[in-house]
Amino acid sequence: TPKIVTTRAELRQAIAQAKPSSLGFVPTMGALHNGHASLFKLAREENELVVISVFVNELQFNDAADYAKYPRTLDADVQIAAAAGVDIVFAPAAEEIYHAGLPLVRLNSGVLGELYEGASRPGHFDGMLAVVAKLLHLADPRQGEYRAYFGQKDAQQLVLIRRMVEDLDYPVQLRAVPIVRSEQGLALSSRNSLLNEAELKAALVLHRAISLIAGRAARNEPLNLEDAYGLFQMEPLVELDYFVVVNPDTLQELAFNCQDTPFTGEGLILVAAKVGGVRLIDNQPI
Ligand code: PAJ
Repeated sequence: TPKIVTTRAELRQAIAQAKPSSLGFVPTMGALHNGHASLFKLAREENELVVISVFVNELQFNDAADYAKYPRTLDADVQIAAAAGVDIVFAPAAEEIYHAGLPLVRLNSGVLGELYEGASRPGHFDGMLAVVAKLLHLADPRQGEYRAYFGQKDAQQLVLIRRMVEDLDYPVQLRAVPIVRSEQGLALSSRNSLLNEAELKAALVLHRAISLIAGRAARNEPLNLEDAYGLFQMEPLVELDYFVVVNPDTLQELAFNCQDTPFTGEGLILVAAKVGGVRLIDNQPI
């Protein structure tokens, strides 16, 4: 079973004691599922020491109700971490991370932080970067190899973390892990536990719409995104926020979306929708 630490000092000490030749770090907000576990397992394969954090970061929630209802399941989380071979679980209280109130000095996620998720959740990406910046310091082994693992599930988050690591010269290697889905195709998410049976079924439209468009892209056909919007219109429980095809690095929308232009090149489908008041996101490279 993993060692559970709750203070920054304990975490530093546990890492210093282990003197690992390589450390894999996986930050999470808990309510762990098989998506998180696949990050842990890759970290386990690639490193001598595996550290995860479980911390529901209030700063990245623009909506207080969303923060309040975010699932918190530490006991079950520790079991999942144990099964995946995690060595250290860092599960701090809010005061341990944001002592003396919230931080004064913040990171600014820039123009990329204002698109898509950022447009619908003002301040979300600034708050996300604030905690990731801190956690990457706290888990830094300061000798040996240092890798941090993030899911492709949160594609815009991953692009922003890549930029932060590059722009601020963090001495860490980023590793991206593919999306883990349910058998029916729903991208696993801690928020799925907030959906009832009808909503879970309706939520499958995200993957259905993505698959439709990804299939056309693979055959170099025109994408006709209108047909994807149409699938959403047939689901009364689902409120579409955005369904776009973007450049995977810059996240700028691709300007090919006319009816009869065959798709060539590379893109990334990004989608977000509300299902019964729960915000879900998904994506797929094409
Ligand atoms: P959280 O939503 O708990 O996700 C933690 C990590 O697990 C992220 O890198 C996320 O992309 C990955 N993940 C979640 N669901 C996944 C799935 N179905 N398949 C693959 N990977 C998946 O993302 C956060 O927490 C926070 O923003 C955090 C980075 C911890 C900062 O607070």
